[in-house]
Amino acid sequence: MAPLKITVIGTGYLGATHAAAMAELGFDVLGLDVVPEKIEVLASGRVPMYEPGLEELLAAHVAGLPGSTGRLRFTTSYEELGAFDADVHFVCVNTPQKHGEYACDMSYVDSAVESLAPHLTRPALVVGKSTVPVGSAERLAAKLTALAPAGEEIELAWNPEFLREGYAVQDTLHPDRIVIGVRAGADGERAEKLLREVYATPLGEGTPLVVTDFPTAELVKTAANSFLATKISFINAMAEICEAGGGDVVKLAEAIGHDERIGKKFLRAGIGFGGGCLPKDIRAFMARAGELGVDQALTFLREVDSINMRRRGHMVELAREAVGGSFLGKRVAVLGATFKPDSDDVRDSPALNVAGQIHLQGGQVTVYDPKGMDNARRVFPTLSYADSAIAAARGAEVVLHLTEWSEFRDLDPAALGEAVTDRLILDGRNALDPELWRAAGWTYRAMGRPRA
Ligand code: UDX
Repeated sequence: MAPLKITVIGTGYLGATHAAAMAELGFDVLGLDVVPEKIEVLASGRVPMYEPGLEELLAAHVAGLPGSTGRLRFTTSYEELGAFDADVHFVCVNTPQKHGEYACDMSYVDSAVESLAPHLTRPALVVGKSTVPVGSAERLAAKLTALAPAGEEIELAWNPEFLREGYAVQDTLHPDRIVIGVRAGADGERAEKLLREVYATPLGEGTPLVVTDFPTAELVKTAANSFLATKISFINAMAEICEAGGGDVVKLAEAIGHDERIGKKFLRAGIGFGGGCLPKDIRAFMARAGELGVDQALTFLREVDSINMRRRGHMVELAREAVGGSFLGKRVAVLGATFKPDSDDVRDSPALNVAGQIHLQGGQVTVYDPKGMDNARRVFPTLSYADSAIAAARGAEVVLHLTEWSEFRDLDPAALGEAVTDRLILDGRNALDPELWRAAGWTYRAMGRPRA
């Protein structure tokens, strides 16, 4: 039997990884993006962002590369995508926050569906993976039926994606669960059968499959991200209390984490969450709840959001206090610019936000990040950048550790101590070993921990 033909529309973090993973699973894949530069880079086997393991997957499958399976191709043309005549089309475009509003901007999803539909001339399955407000799938299914020449023979399924940046390849090839939203009845059963074929390998490895309706599938993603955001803000709220009451939030997290119902993960206090998902997803979720007339159900997310945003301001205050009350003329070294380690993504990055605030208040800020420098420079061209941690720390009156890259955990405090003016480090991620730094003569301070 010929392998399934699959298209992936939108080749950002999600789509590029999904396309490469589908080729890895043995399917014939065509990836489409409307940004020609992205497609050019991907078609040459390179990755337009930093994502561990993705370049290797592309090298193994992109057509035209020496030794590749040739199963993965890219295009910017919906005509070409139509001629490819695929069995399954995955929609992986982004759904950012609308400018000036909390709601989710669905224009990329709508435009992907509107561009795809006229090319659907025979039965096919369209699968939404983007994070969307509940109710979108029903609306998009009607749109497909109306616009596709094959009309009723085009089925829609919703299959949210839970990949984490930095682990995208692993999370896509070996997900911890697969969620599929389908219609009731024979059409939905056909869609489920086809998706079971697509995911036969992970399902064979024992990955749990949850089959449900459209609204539940859409909600699973926003609910999961809201829970994670709440967990982080919970521990950050505890950090505020610890600071006021003299407790140690790291010990507290360790102790409550032993309770399996609570668990250890996502309880690292610090400058909070950022990135392209959690912040905008909780806001879009609140906006959607409002439209549905149940805004009260999610007012707690407003608090989750404000605890999180407060962390950034609090870090700035700690730094200001550390340099004697004013940033004017003070040199501040910032280690980390990305919103998390193992990524080059600086979207809504707490680290860059803190660096920017200090700079705007007159501090001389020098930033170093292992992978995020180019993106950081684009967002904040007025900050200074150095090409190593030591270079960033040269002459600094305070060092801020703001993204928990392993490179920073492995730093030699003695060597860094030679570069700085004052051995003063503020750990915004509670990820460094205080004993190690104190032993090398540093004043080590962290959020939610007692001062030694
Ligand atoms: C998240 C979800 O984890 C993923 O399932 C979803 O598909 C997309 O959104 P991602 O944005 O890659 O993934 O980041 P994640 O690993 O969840 O981290 C989010 C932010 O929370 C980062 O800024 C991270 O530094 C911060 N964080 C995480 C903490 O501050 N403390 C923690 O304990 C954990």
